[in-house]
Amino acid sequence: MTDILKVAMPKGRIYKKASALFREAGVPIPVDVDETRKLVIPLPELGLEFIMAKPVDVPTYVEYGAADIGIVGKDVLMEENRDVYELLDLGIARCRMSVIGLPNWEPGIQQRVATKYPNVASQFFREQGQQVEVIKLNGSIELAPLIGLADRIVDMVETGQTLRENGLIEMTEIFEITSRLIANRVSYRMKNHQIQALCDRLQPVIAAVQKG
Ligand code: PRP
Repeated sequence: MTDILKVAMPKGRIYKKASALFREAGVPIPVDVDETRKLVIPLPELGLEFIMAKPVDVPTYVEYGAADIGIVGKDVLMEENRDVYELLDLGIARCRMSVIGLPNWEPGIQQRVATKYPNVASQFFREQGQQVEVIKLNGSIELAPLIGLADRIVDMVETGQTLRENGLIEMTEIFEITSRLIANRVSYRMKNHQIQALCDRLQPVIAAVQKG
């Protein structure tokens, strides 16, 4: 009997793209999985079990071995800095992490930066030699410079629509974001055959998407 591979899937927008990728790779996730509110979904016919996690928690489940592998954005990986293997760049959910502000921004004496990613932001500004106060928010980050909570923000930009509609500009791109397949270090050894088989299925599909 082969072991079931426990996969931490991020709920929300990455899930849709990840499940489409799995299906293209010949892993036929039943359609009812897309709509269910169930959090643990056994898929024995595929040798898988999905754990539907909040995206920011995926690396935690994988690091502790509650999931063998997981799918997560590079933004979360950089922020969480968990001890996991990064196996594959899935090339989906492409966007970027950027410094954003109002067009008339000028460096002041007291600089405040609001973000959902305090570790990423602190590291970036430290490397730039800029002293800033980082303020952690949990969403709608673009509000902060509009109402004077912060001078700038560090956030994800995908289409740029949120910036345009709020009169903000992208000042500096920090890094590109795509979703990654990650693995628990022990699972990677113990379930290497299954993990490798899944990677082998995914790789040509990823390559084809990248070629366009
Ligand atoms: C994300 C991000 C930006 C927006 C970028 O927010 O924080 O606000 O998407 O996308 P765009 O460039 O296509 O406009 P999300 O929708 O996840 O909600 P949040 O602001 O509550 O975090």
